Amino acid sequence: MNKEAFRRASRNVWEKMAGGWDANRDYIWETSKPVGEWLVAKLEPQKGETLLELAAGMGDTGFVAADLIGAQGRLISSDFAPAMVDGARRRADELGITNADFRVMNAENMDLDSESVDGVICRWGYMLMGDPGAALKETRRVLKPGGRLGLSVFATPEQNPWAAVPVRALVEGGFMEAPAPGSPGILALGDRERLESLLTEAGFTELLVDEVPLTFRHRDFEGYWQFLTEVAGAIAALIESLPSGEQSAAKKTIATAVSPFQTENEIALPGVTLNVLAR
Ligand SMILES: C[S@@+](CC[C@H](N)C(=O)[O-])C[C@H]1O[C@@H](n2cnc3c(N)ncnc32)[C@H](O)[C@@H]1O
Repeated sequence: MNKEAFRRASRNVWEKMAGGWDANRDYIWETSKPVGEWLVAKLEPQKGETLLELAAGMGDTGFVAADLIGAQGRLISSDFAPAMVDGARRRADELGITNADFRVMNAENMDLDSESVDGVICRWGYMLMGDPGAALKETRRVLKPGGRLGLSVFATPEQNPWAAVPVRALVEGGFMEAPAPGSPGILALGDRERLESLLTEAGFTELLVDEVPLTFRHRDFEGYWQFLTEVAGAIAALIESLPSGEQSAAKKTIATAVSPFQTENEIALPGVTLNVLAR
């Protein structure tokens, strides 16, 4: 698939996921708060600054920063899926945020002037992009000299059973092909050396990298399955595309694969992100 075809297909997937992200937003934010709060704390937003959030989804990380830049500051909350941008706009209204603009924008090719923003936030976005290197170069281009980037991606498959276990089960069960090495996906930028070299090639010279743990907890497997099928991007789309008999078989396969994470009261799947402050 060429880059443009991938971008279109991926945008369609995320457009469909927006309802699930909206419905699960409180759960997602509560589960991942340390990841988002790390990004904002390290970015140190200052009053009056212009900040850009890329691949913002429902926009929650950017909204924490919006509070800190004050009325004179401006948050540009962006995503390439219009339904995600609509969800973020609705959420900002609920929160009474008045210093944010909302833009449908592809992070690999931004419709923004060079050296126009003080800081960029991108939580769980770059690894999903067809050309993360291009997106990082675009990020460097729109940042003012000395501007900061706070980004988060998921670390290695071994550190992220919540995502790696169902994918492995689907591959081993013959429901999908193994993702090609280096292809976009939820765990595609988990190799710290690759991530650091993409950042360096994009022109970032100072990097701070931290691992941030999180745990996806659900009351039982049904809760986890619902979450997976409502929010998990390409995996959710793949499951949805299976004929109903195969869907049930895939569900059973995944249930068996994640059963070691089931305790008496809950199913708890761990994950780790690589959080980076770059300038
Ligand atoms: C895993 S969600 C993360 C959402 C949000 N940042 C968060 O942390 O809750 C990934 C988001 O990336 C967006 N996305 C994927 N590729 C993109 C691209 N090339 N440009 C802009 N947004 C993109 C999707 O639409 C989706 O909203």
